[in-house]
Amino acid sequence: MSTEATDRGEEAVTRKLKIWRGDVTSGGLVDFEVQTEPGMVVLDAVLEIQRSQAPDLAVRWNCKAAKCGSCGAEVNGRPSLMCKTRLDHLAADEPITVEPLQAFPVIRDLVTDVSWNYEVNKKIAPFTPKPDAEWLIGQEDTDRMSEFRKCIECFMCQDVCHVLRDHGLFSRYYGPRFMIRLASLEMHPLDGLDRIEMIGDEAGIGLCNITKCCTEVCPEGIHITDNGIIPLKERLVDRRYDPVMKILQRGRRNNRRKPTPEDLGPDSRVS
Ligand code: SF4
Ligand code: SF4
Ligand code: FES
Repeated sequence: MSTEATDRGEEAVTRKLKIWRGDVTSGGLVDFEVQTEPGMVVLDAVLEIQRSQAPDLAVRWNCKAAKCGSCGAEVNGRPSLMCKTRLDHLAADEPITVEPLQAFPVIRDLVTDVSWNYEVNKKIAPFTPKPDAEWLIGQEDTDRMSEFRKCIECFMCQDVCHVLRDHGLFSRYYGPRFMIRLASLEMHPLDGLDRIEMIGDEAGIGLCNITKCCTEVCPEGIHITDNGIIPLKERLVDRRYDPVMKILQRGRRNNRRKPTPEDLGPDSRVS
């Protein structure tokens, strides 16, 4: 790291980055040096490298405000939004490594193919109001839904989940992002579908062993495990293994029905 003064009198610092470059056939870390200024984030440094040294460097970004979810990468081995990760929060005396999300197939450089997530999303029936829904919702329910709906679909929780990343069980587990979507629907007081069985079967919630890695990387601070996955697991266990709770659940949920293929509709992304 070397320093010099910028035109504004601030301290410019030269930082070393190791950026993964390659495609599905091969690739590796490539060294770069870039002059940085106070306040810059990793995305700024990567875009400066793209501008000045590597115009064909592939990187996905959009809002630069931590809201579109598209700039997720592994910065020093940790899934992070590049636009939210300040350079001065990373050790100054070591190179910064920037790699694509490891759980998904790489397309080129820092860009991965996350389309599997959109296919999973299509398997979840959107909000389907109860036929007799009274359109009143308590503040507590609203607050709970608001937390889940903060998701920006960065898929970093999917990236870090060992069920997907290490064990590759993409056909058996929907992953934490979709547990959150299912929780927002299952806990919606006006939703008319009973999703508990599909959460246990097709969505594979039993494969989650509550390591909480997903919660740790969520840039929106959603309590994925404590507020989403654990309550869903409890509902499933009550249904399947507790005869008293099963009867109580039936009483509370008698105006909910099982989802059918027709419930998926033409655009199941709308929830
Ligand atoms: S808590 Fe569950 S969903 Fe989250 S990372 Fe761990 S296994 Fe995956
Ligand atoms: S739950 Fe959090 S980490 Fe997962 S996709 Fe949504 S915003 Fe990203
Ligand atoms: S560019 Fe939109 S979240 Fe980073």
